[in-house]
Amino acid sequence: MNSLLESYQPRHWPSLSGLKGISDHTLTVHFGLYEGYVKNVNLLNEQIAESKSAQNGKGDDLRFSELKRRLGYEYNGMRLHEHYFDNMTPPGKSTPSSKLKERLSDGTSDFEAWKSDFIKVGGMRGVGWAIAYLDPTTGRISNNWIESHAIGHVTGFVPILVMDVWEHAFMLDYAPAERGKYIEAFFENINWEMCESRLVTPA
Ligand SMILES: [Fe+2]
Repeated sequence: MNSLLESYQPRHWPSLSGLKGISDHTLTVHFGLYEGYVKNVNLLNEQIAESKSAQNGKGDDLRFSELKRRLGYEYNGMRLHEHYFDNMTPPGKSTPSSKLKERLSDGTSDFEAWKSDFIKVGGMRGVGWAIAYLDPTTGRISNNWIESHAIGHVTGFVPILVMDVWEHAFMLDYAPAERGKYIEAFFENINWEMCESRLVTPA
């Protein structure tokens, strides 16, 4: 994108068909929700530009302020879904390397302890995201809870593994109280190579 007025285009993940424990129907519905965020980001950017133009740069317009407040929510809704779909693949196609396991476990080689912590974060009450985040200033990884889409991100942290735990991510396949089963299925479908590539390339 060269300009805020140039539209984002929704991405597509046809290779995700056939995930274990996450149905194609859930994915189809989820892709539709993702496209709503892309649409809203574009709409907000257009409306913000119109609002600025109408105010002639005075910057004290309430509509302008509310549009700006909404932008982080929609942007994160768009980008986090892209990370989430990118870091999945049908089962049997990916395994974590020893290097990635060591990085995730903070050099302790206790991958299972990292995994337990990530699962615990994903099971927290509320709707949001569990993210294994790399702090590029220290090289350490922490599992963070993101409330909704926009609350809890740390400036400069790089998402390594992103898991959607909004109810729409699993409720067509599981009961509302069965988030744990969905998380178990998610772990069967992780694209570990994609996660490892994020260790060196900001996502
Ligand atoms: Fe979602």
